Amino acid sequence: MPVAVIVGTQWGDEGKGKVVDYYASRAQVIVRFNGGANAGHTVVLKGKSYKLHHIPSGVLYPNKINIIGNGMAVDPKKLIQEIEMLKGAGIKPSLAISPRAHVVLPYHFVLDGAEEERKGGLAAGTTKRGIGPCYSDKASRFGVRFCEFIDSGAFREKLAILHPLKLRIIEGAYGLSFSRTQEDIFREYSQYASVLAPYVKDTVEIIHSAIEAKKRILLEGAQATMLDIDHGLYPFGTSSNTTAGGACTGAGIGPTQVDEVVGVVKAYTSRVGSGPLPTEITDSTADFIRNKGGEYGTTTGRPRRIGWLDMVTLRYSARINGLTGLAFTRIDTLAGVKKVKLCTHYTLDGKKTLLMPASHRDFARCKPVYREFPGWKDAGIDGWRKCAKGGFKALPAQARAYLSFISKSVGVPIYFVSVGAGREDSIVLKDVFGRR
Ligand code: GDP
Ligand code: IMO
Ligand code: MG
Repeated sequence: MPVAVIVGTQWGDEGKGKVVDYYASRAQVIVRFNGGANAGHTVVLKGKSYKLHHIPSGVLYPNKINIIGNGMAVDPKKLIQEIEMLKGAGIKPSLAISPRAHVVLPYHFVLDGAEEERKGGLAAGTTKRGIGPCYSDKASRFGVRFCEFIDSGAFREKLAILHPLKLRIIEGAYGLSFSRTQEDIFREYSQYASVLAPYVKDTVEIIHSAIEAKKRILLEGAQATMLDIDHGLYPFGTSSNTTAGGACTGAGIGPTQVDEVVGVVKAYTSRVGSGPLPTEITDSTADFIRNKGGEYGTTTGRPRRIGWLDMVTLRYSARINGLTGLAFTRIDTLAGVKKVKLCTHYTLDGKKTLLMPASHRDFARCKPVYREFPGWKDAGIDGWRKCAKGGFKALPAQARAYLSFISKSVGVPIYFVSVGAGREDSIVLKDVFGRR
């Protein structure tokens, strides 16, 4: 049962796309299990950068099955654009969309903005991709699944219930105008449905036949643990389960079928969106890292907030996900920082704590306590590539000490170290499919 899950351990943008692309070389099936166009996963191949929002990051290999899992909230227009973008680059995606995945509709975009505004200081700073309202409709059973979306009778029936209701909410509760008619939405979205219909397949059957045939399956998470709807920093996260449990529900496989759970860890912290971030860096080091690493949102282009790596949230993440391995990224980006800080614990009301509080108000009061590590020199693109060839032992001693300390503290071994954006800038200590 070689099934491996890849999740973000921090606040997103850890480099999940890069790690999934690497491990996908030995997988036959790659499944995205949550989120939608809020995600931006970058894969760099032969110097060309591909920004994926829905399609799994295994798509750049030929002959893999890429699945849009039932746990996703799909923007059909954006998904079609993504397919076109890949076709334009000479890649014909082999894609299967779960009939149980949900569809983001025009109401959801308007409501995403309106709800954020109403929340004031509690707004998460969403990507405005309609994610929260789409998942709200899923939970209240107003949502439109792909199986209904591609069945024009079912889609029409659902819209007839939804449209007047959403109109009243948008206009009445939020005082906004909404000019689109039911017919106009039906017409536009029916076109998307007809383009995507050939991709809608029984993904449970595809995944389980593959498991039974001892094929290798990679489950790709979007967002990250601290943004999880249950375990993240509520209400500053997203609306799906981004963690390993969500991989099971969002793909349709049982926890007993998962062999490995790899947490992607950026060597520092980045955050797009609002809410407290105890290890946020407020001096020029943040600008240095942001500029050096091009830390701007893949989806929205927003500058990412930068912080030191936080062991409280990482330890929490290891527990929530049941991590079996760590995949570190951005060792090259952090290079050149003279003293690297690592938050080992917090103080809250004058007391030491290693635990993640449930309340965002308590989290905002947590004061980070740091341990300092000597930094390492930047090797330059060619230097890092050479280092990747040499393996873990070729990394600067200071970087090895930093990573080993983190791994030991969380009690999870290092599987992967990334020293650049490309596939070849990778040090693989353990293949996720090698265990059995
Ligand atoms: P994701 O959402 O977790 O897939 O991450 P994003 O793609 O949004 O952001 C990660 C960015 O870092 C992308 O531009 C990647 O190409 C890049 N990246 C990933 N790993 C490394 C690394 O080790 N070094 C450098 N310099 N860039 C990396
Ligand atoms: P990837 O998969 C970073 C953040 C938003 C906001 C909160 C809720 O690329 O790591 P949403 O639009 O989901 O309702 O926004 O979550 N957020 C992300 N931050 N990377 C992402 O995805 C994110 N997806 C959502 O900034 O704070
Ligand atoms: Mg991203």
